[in-house]
Amino acid sequence: TLQGLDVRAEIDRLRRERNAVILAHYYQAPEIQDLADFVGDSLDLSRKAQATDADVIAFCGVRFMAETAKILSPQKIVILPDMNAGCSLEDSCPPEQFAAFRAQHPDHIALTYINCSAAVKALSDIIVTSSSAETILGQIPPEQKIIFGPDKHLGGYLSRTLGREMLLWPGTCIVHEAFSETELLKLKAQYPGAPVLAHPECPGHILDHADYVGATSGILKYALEAPGDVFIVATEPHIIHQMEKAAPHKTFIGAPGADGNCNCNACPYMALNTLEKLYVALRDLEPRIEIEEELRLKAKRSLDRMLEMAG
Ligand code: 13P
Ligand code: SF4
Repeated sequence: TLQGLDVRAEIDRLRRERNAVILAHYYQAPEIQDLADFVGDSLDLSRKAQATDADVIAFCGVRFMAETAKILSPQKIVILPDMNAGCSLEDSCPPEQFAAFRAQHPDHIALTYINCSAAVKALSDIIVTSSSAETILGQIPPEQKIIFGPDKHLGGYLSRTLGREMLLWPGTCIVHEAFSETELLKLKAQYPGAPVLAHPECPGHILDHADYVGATSGILKYALEAPGDVFIVATEPHIIHQMEKAAPHKTFIGAPGADGNCNCNACPYMALNTLEKLYVALRDLEPRIEIEEELRLKAKRSLDRMLEMAG
């Protein structure tokens, strides 16, 4: 509580008063997921942001997601509970360096993961999410040369599965990089037959042990639909909240880091958003995402290509 306030009730009151929609990613804390109007993966959240008739979008996710909402819905007020909610992939790809890299490879198009700044989106040809990357890449003629950034693990996974060479930007997600292969193998020995579900942001040595590789939405679907009692989940562990809610009879175990438990794999950026900060953001309509119009229009081009091609 905030000085005796019932924060949940206040959030409900403010969301009605402001005609606000609360969008949350699967990596948000359970209490945020539970009061959101919609919980989803990066692509679903972009589509919801584009389609909503709310006046305010309260985005419970990281900054590049809230920026995407603003790029697609410029007439709406987009608030992010904590403006410091960044992403290690975005940090790994400063726009000036990305522009220089592109300039060195003028015959390549830039296929870029949505986990990047608006400035990098503006320098890209087509954006992808982990749920749409294979579909989109499959539509690009085989002779077309491609730069893929900023996630080298997602890029490497796509290259291997689709047999398509791409020039990879060397960025990584600090969360998915922290899984330990040694500890994962111990867990697999302990739970024989338990499928391993992994996000393609994981390094190849983790994906090698996965029975299913996909975006958060795909991982969730697989966990709920596949037979079995125990599942090992190699992505940010807060998604397990949705799994436990929908399939309480199943057991979901977060893949471990080097210390043998999964808590080190919580995303520190996602964790910056709290119920209290969401309440304050709805009350003050701050912090607000603002994007300069010229930059917005450039970034929108590559995002629109994604929405068209994702199907
Ligand atoms: P998806 O929800 O699109 O799979 O993205 C995962 C992620 O790391 C977002 O930061
Ligand atoms: Fe970025 Fe990784 Fe956190 Fe997703 S989980 S927001 S990719 S740091």
